[in-house]
Amino acid sequence: MLALRLIERKRDGGHIEPGEWRALAYAYAAGHVPDYQMASFLMACFLRGLDRSETHALTDAMLHSGDSLDLAYLNRPRIDKHSTGGVGDKVSLVLAPLIASLGVAVPMMSGRGLGHTGGTLDKLESIPGFDTRMPLLEARRLIETLNCALFGQTEEIAPADRKMYALRDATGTVESIPLIAASIMSKKLAEGLTGLVLDVKRGSGAFLPQLERGLELAKTMIELGADHNCPVVALVTAMDRPLGRACGNALEMEESIHALKGEGPADLMEVTYALGSEMLLLAGAARTGAEALQMMEQAIADGSAARHFQRIIEAQGGNPSVVDDPAILPQANEVEIFVAPRRGFISRVEPRAIGRGITALGGGRTKMDDKLDLSVGFVITARPGDWVEAGEPLATVFARDRAGIDSGRATLRTAIAIADEANPPLALVSHRVSAAGVEVLAAG
Ligand code: URA
Repeated sequence: MLALRLIERKRDGGHIEPGEWRALAYAYAAGHVPDYQMASFLMACFLRGLDRSETHALTDAMLHSGDSLDLAYLNRPRIDKHSTGGVGDKVSLVLAPLIASLGVAVPMMSGRGLGHTGGTLDKLESIPGFDTRMPLLEARRLIETLNCALFGQTEEIAPADRKMYALRDATGTVESIPLIAASIMSKKLAEGLTGLVLDVKRGSGAFLPQLERGLELAKTMIELGADHNCPVVALVTAMDRPLGRACGNALEMEESIHALKGEGPADLMEVTYALGSEMLLLAGAARTGAEALQMMEQAIADGSAARHFQRIIEAQGGNPSVVDDPAILPQANEVEIFVAPRRGFISRVEPRAIGRGITALGGGRTKMDDKLDLSVGFVITARPGDWVEAGEPLATVFARDRAGIDSGRATLRTAIAIADEANPPLALVSHRVSAAGVEVLAAG
């Protein structure tokens, strides 16, 4: 009865009251509202939108449909980073141990890859033995002792969001800014944070490719954070090409380990340091961006960030020797170099095509229960703007078998474009958004 009334009201452009959002979210999480009614309600929300008070009420309703981490007793700043997702985006794997090694608690609850984007949990699980499934109590114990837990959304956290997000994914209602903002923030607020840094991707490989939509999402999440006493800062970063060189689960883990040891590609390090600086500033652990950068560079140079990752891996059941010997990660059976078919400028390395290519190789999902081959993917050394000669190596394909190599080669032929003219890529870190407004950091 309640659901039908709310569907009709939202369909006709009416307003849903906070108590009604709460009642609906609880009833749905408890199985008292069928999926067909919730799907219809979500479509009405998608088409009609939510105002600020409705977005706030939905966030609260989903947050309070489950448990929270409640880490206030730690008396330590607790900061997480969330990315809207991309290809080759392994920043969380570097940032979590790095920032935790500097005394800031990082309760990092992450997701799995779906569609063309990768997921932090899958990448972590390429480490032999590494377990990302844990009850909240265990996550709390790890954060207490190591400042960090790398885990997935448990049954206890925002169960209403869990069910609603899965339903939205199957009913064409994901790309709604208020629904996305409420979904992400309900989970992040359940981590008991004192601050959150958002990496909002833009460009052809981003979930929301247009800058304006990314900025709107950032502003909505900043408002939700402010309503809950959790300051949020967002950086807009480029996803018109993959980040770093490695794309694929175990390959990205290997690149992240190299990054923690001071051997990361320049673009990956620039994004990692930009987001890490915001985390350290929000935590009050650094007073200026320059001080934050110096702290992070030092933790990488003196080995403390890599050693901290080893401790986290061990505590989560993984083999810590992977940090010294990344060769223990899953290895692809077949490896082949891809060369430039002609001379010219690299004008495009299309992230969506690369992401779909990883899925075709068996390294990504089209359905949530797909089983992955964590060893497969690409290492792409060619960057937009580079001049290349015919026959010059541009990338490497890692596949399960020869058919995979053929599929990988076809992916790279489509994804990597060579032209007579250079086509400048988007600025890597272009905007900073906070409660004070939008700052342009770099043009383009
Ligand atoms: N990620 C989420 O957790 N929720 C959304 O709605 C979209 C992306």
